[in-house]
Parts: sequence; structure tokens; C-alpha cells
Amino acid sequence: MNTYPSQDHWFPVTQVRKLKKNKPLAVAYYGQSVVLFRDGNKIHALKDQCPHRGVPLSTGCLKQGALECPYHGWTFNGQGQLTSIPGDPHFRAPKHAFIDTYAVCEAHGLIWLSLNQVKHNPPFIPQVHASHIYSTQTGIIEANCVDIAENFLDALHTHTVHTGIIRNNSPKRHACHATITHHANGYQAEYIEEKKQTGLVSRLFGSHIIKGIGRIHASGILELEYYSKKGIALSVVIYLVPETDKKTKLIVRTYAFGHHYLNYLKMWAMFPFQYIAFIQDKRILETQQNALNNNADFKPMITGTDLMRPYIIKAFQNDIQPTHREKQLLL
Ligand code: FES
Ligand SMILES: [Fe+2]
Repeated sequence: MNTYPSQDHWFPVTQVRKLKKNKPLAVAYYGQSVVLFRDGNKIHALKDQCPHRGVPLSTGCLKQGALECPYHGWTFNGQGQLTSIPGDPHFRAPKHAFIDTYAVCEAHGLIWLSLNQVKHNPPFIPQVHASHIYSTQTGIIEANCVDIAENFLDALHTHTVHTGIIRNNSPKRHACHATITHHANGYQAEYIEEKKQTGLVSRLFGSHIIKGIGRIHASGILELEYYSKKGIALSVVIYLVPETDKKTKLIVRTYAFGHHYLNYLKMWAMFPFQYIAFIQDKRILETQQNALNNNADFKPMITGTDLMRPYIIKAFQNDIQPTHREKQLLL
């Protein structure tokens, strides 16, 4: 199974504020270890391994904009060139790079990398970023990013995994009409429920919600949107950062709408519930990944209720086709 989005995109690897001026930072990306560091206003990304004896350069330090290996003190500049070997009186800096470099850029408070050196297009940023205040949380789930994307876009686990918080697990369910369509960068499912969600979060914060949308973008970005009669009321953007095929970092941004201070208070009041739901999902996804690790031949069974699974895989393969599918669910 392809568990990564296609590599023809920019991917955010961390928040800009996590990269300090005087300290290199290790990040992982598609199974590769990368070190980020600043040289003045510029950010550089190099393979995180000293070519001398293989020590991670992220464990070293910065000296005048160059990265110093903690073992024998070799230094490297942002182009991956060796700039000094302490103790060699005849050292002359060679022109060629000793270390692989990656295209790196900064956009919307995030640092983005590209393995394919996609320098022509800026990173894709969901529309919601344009004008709204948000709060950012990060987390790690030791699971592949296809299963994580599916989990965030799936309604039918909420009764059992998030019992009482998102939905009650009672045999009495109500009808929901789901419509799956394509968009420029992926696919989305729109859910219109006959009744309100039965859980605590809906009773406390969501009595005005009439419609939900879950969206996947080809580069591994998820959007969850909740609408009231007046328009969008809450939005969550989740950046999936595939560190390896079994470990994914999540950068989660929650957006409040409107200018009323109550909207921001509401957003903050929701965080404990969001956190509990995250821990519940993390637990089930890591249990699932552990079981998959022990059974490489397992083929998941896809039914009509697994609305988004096929579209997540298509989106990750950059395969965006005109789509319109309708399905009734019981939620
Ligand atoms: S291992 Fe890096 S300088 Fe020797
Ligand atoms: Fe969940």
C-alpha cells in the first residue's frame, strides 16, 4: 500500500517558531532525517548525517552560519559544502557539496520541504488561512498517514472510539446524507444529518451546526468544516507530516470565525474535548499499526460505508477525477 502522499508537493515539517536562531533542529520526512538551521534570514535543510563518521549534525552546533559536527568539528554551510576540518593545516574548501540539501521555504508560520526540489510553485495553503485567527497544536501518532487521514474523515468510528464525547453508542441511530465530490486538489465528503450529533461536544458547542465537510488535499492536508445557517462556524486544518511509513506528525490548526470574543472563548473551551478525542484516536490507530506490523499481508476490506478511503489513496497518488457519489449512513 502507498502510505505516503505523492512527493511532488511541499510539505510542512515544523512550525517556524520551533527553529531557534542558534540551534539546529532535527526533523524527519519520508523516512529521511533532515537538519534545519538558520543562517541570518535564510533557512537551510541538509541531510542529518555527517559524511565523516555518520553522526547526526542536528546534535552539533552553529558557528557563524555553518553547522559544526559534534564529533571532530567538521563544519558545513547551507549548500552542504565542507568548510573546515579542524586540525588539517592544508585544508582547502572543496567546491562540491558533501551533504544532500533539500528545497526549503517558509510560509504561513510553517517550514516546508520538498524532496523533488519543487521550487516553481509556492506551498498549497488552505483558503481558511487567509483571514482568520487560529491556534496551533502538534502531536505524534505512530501510524501511517493513510489510516490517520481516514480516521479524521470517518464518522462511523465516533460512536465506539469517542463514545459520549462525539456520539453516543446507542442502537438507535439517525439518517445522514453524505455526498462525495472532487475539488481542485483532492476530494471531500459533505454530511447532512437528520438530527444533531448525540455527544457532549455537540450539546455544549454545536447546537447550531447543520452541515459538516471533511476534505483531503493531495499533499496530505485535511480540513474539517462545520457550518451553521449563517455559514462556516468552525474549521480545523490538519497537516499530516509523514516522518516514516509508520509514524506521522500532525500540525493541527483550529480556526474561530466571526469577531465576537465569545467565538474565541468557545474555541479554547473546546480544546480539552479535542485533546481527549485525539488521545482516543491515537490509541486505536497505534493499536491498529502494531497489528499491521505483525501481518504484512493484511488487505483491508473496503465497504460502501468506508466513504473516503478510496479517495484518500487517489488523492495521495495525485489522481483527481470528476466525482459525484451519494450515500446514506446511519449515525
Ligand atoms: S563524525 Fe562528523 S566530523 Fe567526524
Ligand atoms: Fe476520531
